[in-house]
Amino acid sequence: MTKRVAVIGAGPSGLAQLRAFQSAAQNGAAIPEIVCFETQDDWGGLWNYTWRTGVDEYGEPVHCSMYRYLWSNGPKEGLEFADYSFEEHFGRQIASYPPRAVLFDYIKGRVEKANVRDWIRFRTPVRHVSYAPDTGMFTVTAHNLADDREYSEEFDHVVVASGHFSTPNAPQFDGFPTFNGRILHAHDFRDALEFKDQDILIIGTSYSAEDIGSQCWKYGCKSVTVSHRTAPMGYKWPDNWQEVPLLTKVEGNTATFKDGTTKDVDSIILCTGYQHHFPFLPDELRLKTANRLATADLYKGVVWVNNPKLMYLGMQDQWFTFNMFDGQAWYVRDIIMGRIDVPSKDVMAKDVEDRIAAEDAIADDYGAIKYQGDYVKELIEDTDYPSFDLDGACEAFYQWKKHKKQDIMTFRNNSYKSVITGTMAPIHHTPWKDALDDSLESYLQN
Ligand SMILES: Cc1cc2nc3c(=O)[nH]c(=O)nc-3n(C[C@H](O)[C@H](O)[C@H](O)COP(=O)(O)OP(=O)(O)OC[C@H]3O[C@@H](n4cnc5c(N)ncnc54)[C@H](O)[C@@H]3O)c2cc1C
Ligand SMILES: NC(=O)c1ccc[n+]([C@@H]2O[C@H](COP(=O)([O-])OP(=O)(O)OC[C@H]3O[C@@H](n4cnc5c(N)ncnc54)[C@H](OP(=O)(O)O)[C@@H]3O)[C@@H](O)[C@H]2O)c1
Repeated sequence: MTKRVAVIGAGPSGLAQLRAFQSAAQNGAAIPEIVCFETQDDWGGLWNYTWRTGVDEYGEPVHCSMYRYLWSNGPKEGLEFADYSFEEHFGRQIASYPPRAVLFDYIKGRVEKANVRDWIRFRTPVRHVSYAPDTGMFTVTAHNLADDREYSEEFDHVVVASGHFSTPNAPQFDGFPTFNGRILHAHDFRDALEFKDQDILIIGTSYSAEDIGSQCWKYGCKSVTVSHRTAPMGYKWPDNWQEVPLLTKVEGNTATFKDGTTKDVDSIILCTGYQHHFPFLPDELRLKTANRLATADLYKGVVWVNNPKLMYLGMQDQWFTFNMFDGQAWYVRDIIMGRIDVPSKDVMAKDVEDRIAAEDAIADDYGAIKYQGDYVKELIEDTDYPSFDLDGACEAFYQWKKHKKQDIMTFRNNSYKSVITGTMAPIHHTPWKDALDDSLESYLQN
């Protein structure tokens, strides 16, 4: 009897899993039956934009955390699929920081070519997963939203690829209930034009803070104030931008910070990160981890130590994305197909411990990039995923960091060399700050 594998989520990680199995089939292997469950009505995960916030038309939490005018925050040369280059998809090399619609198109291109859409049950959230030790099978309960019908099926393996940047971590500060303006989390941010001519306050100092602040600046907000808990970002910001210590309270529209300074603001945007949230998993199967490079309890970053028939993809904090998900998906595929053995629980636990210790010893962001690059290298070395120059991809990230330090509002004007095709990307036709149209058609006018 054929094995059955459930994949939860058809974002970049879940799609990598489908492509991994399809590529084995293409090479003549007998593959398990794959069923991918997806809540949304299309594939692409976070890259599938919606204007909606809160809940969707079925009352499901909206997954999308992306917004209009979002451009890649890292060079595309760091995330290119080794088996499907940008040149193959677009017919030519394109500039290095594509907007969301361009990357969405690229992600779709590979799976359209692989012809795996039929493996996905759209509009079908997974509600519950359980494991029966006596049969060694998982029961997956899913909800067909269109028919409003819940049903259960059995699987030999479950691959959780449901993402971890959709459930907000949203702290409250004194005075929030009576603030005279809008308070929102980055997850619900959609259009920078909403904040035109406003004084905005951002809490947090990571990518959402940097990028949402930059967007609001680009589309004409009056000022940006960024409040940090640990340390300021420290870039050379425009004149109407300031970094301040942590917010202590708001009264009316006045925000007070830890050093006693104040600022009157119109809106507050919490760029305070996300939670790993798996409401469909019971305690014994549920990953509980911080957002870090070495997750808790995942052997090789993918195999659930407490039950190695359960896998997780893409649960790490991410320098590398699409190509890391590929490395993970190919590795998981090969475990499921019996090509790679899983060691004893003790050995797996030691692997997790070693990865955590190695991450704790990293000195800076450059070390973190190399750490994750080496991790991707380690995974793909054991599979037939096309080998590529991971050190070259790390180099693109190092250059990116330097360009950001030189000028945070111009770093996206740079271009890098593809480690897959060896071609240099063209300089984009318009500097990022002047390119107000983020459509695919506009970007590809080079
Ligand atoms: C604002 C923002 C901007 C980003 N920008 C970049 C960028 O520029 N470059 C980059 O490389 N990365 C970026 N990322 C990182 C992003 O995490 C990855 O690019 C990628 O989307 C992760 O893929 P994933 O498949 O793991 O998760 P997701 O993209 O989150 O996809 C998960 C999928 O699982 C589905 N799902 C969830 N729960 C269930 C369930 N119970 N049942 C069925 N389906 C379910 C969801 O509907 C979704 O389709 C960004 C992230 C955010 C939040
Ligand atoms: N254009 C783009 O491509 C783009 C745009 C936005 C986001 N992203 C992606 O989205 C993902 C998530 O990024 P993120 O910035 O949302 O989350 P994140 O990287 O997890 O950062 C969370 C931030 O919130 C702060 N924080 C958490 N709790 C806080 C509290 N109680 N009080 C004050 N500050 C608090 C953290 O500060 P400490 O440092 O003090 O912990 C940190 O600065 C990343 O993968 C990123 O690349 C991409």
